[in-house]
Amino acid sequence: MAEIIDGKQLSKQIRHNVGERVAEIKESYGKVPHLVVVIVGDNPASLSYVKRKKRDSERAGMKSTIIHKEASISEEELLEIVRELNEDPDVHGLLVQLPLPSHMDSDKVIETIRKEKDVDGFHPLNIAAVHTGAKGILPATPKGVLSMLKGLDVDLVGKEAFVIGTSNIAGKPIGMLLLEEKCTVTYAHSKTRDLKPHARHADIIVSAAGVVNLVTADMVKEGCIVIDVGINRVEGKLVGDVDFEGVKEKASYITPVPGGVGPMTIASLLENTLECFEHLEGIE
Ligand code: GUN
Repeated sequence: MAEIIDGKQLSKQIRHNVGERVAEIKESYGKVPHLVVVIVGDNPASLSYVKRKKRDSERAGMKSTIIHKEASISEEELLEIVRELNEDPDVHGLLVQLPLPSHMDSDKVIETIRKEKDVDGFHPLNIAAVHTGAKGILPATPKGVLSMLKGLDVDLVGKEAFVIGTSNIAGKPIGMLLLEEKCTVTYAHSKTRDLKPHARHADIIVSAAGVVNLVTADMVKEGCIVIDVGINRVEGKLVGDVDFEGVKEKASYITPVPGGVGPMTIASLLENTLECFEHLEGIE
């Protein structure tokens, strides 16, 4: 029977730690990190995410601003806003909420964000840093997954890690971070013929495919660690990729959905904002 990794609790701890550091910095330097979130259009899910980012950063003692623009603004207008925020010394973390309206090129917008303020870790140079092991800003979800794994009393070195999903913001970087931790990493994707032979001998399974019931108890070995990055909606309910009830009987550790990886993402975003601030302000 698995121990459940409580992402809510862990994320609370991380947010608390960030808050303490922000208070210390404020005391010593009279400044706090400022996170700016740009949102274009009225996608309800995006609006709700953005409000949560503002709320949590403010609770950690940071300054936070939402810049909300109508979906009809041009790409050039958005790029101009990003360029101004890049230059603004009072802004330390900057993200543009995705998805953007279809008349905009998200890649171009992300590339325009100054890499030192890119708290999402989506800029190509930050993505490259994940792949080379260079210093950069880690994307929030992979960073959250790594924090969860490092929080366990488990040596990651030499472990067989099986990552299902190869998106640029989840699967691929999660695998690269595990490789950096000296795991032996295997990736699966939509054309993988059979997940089971890979899953069966994995010590760590990370599923970031977005497919309900993809990982089932018959596929996993006794004692494996299962991290569920999937976010799927079934009849209005949030579920992951893993058959939680079945798999928890065999795994040693497992993350629930909701309450697992999800809450870690904003906690990592706050850590990134703090890191960007310290780097930009030259604070160690
Ligand atoms: N849309 C959904 N998740 C994210 C995220 O982590 N960052 C941004 N910028 N947009 C998103």
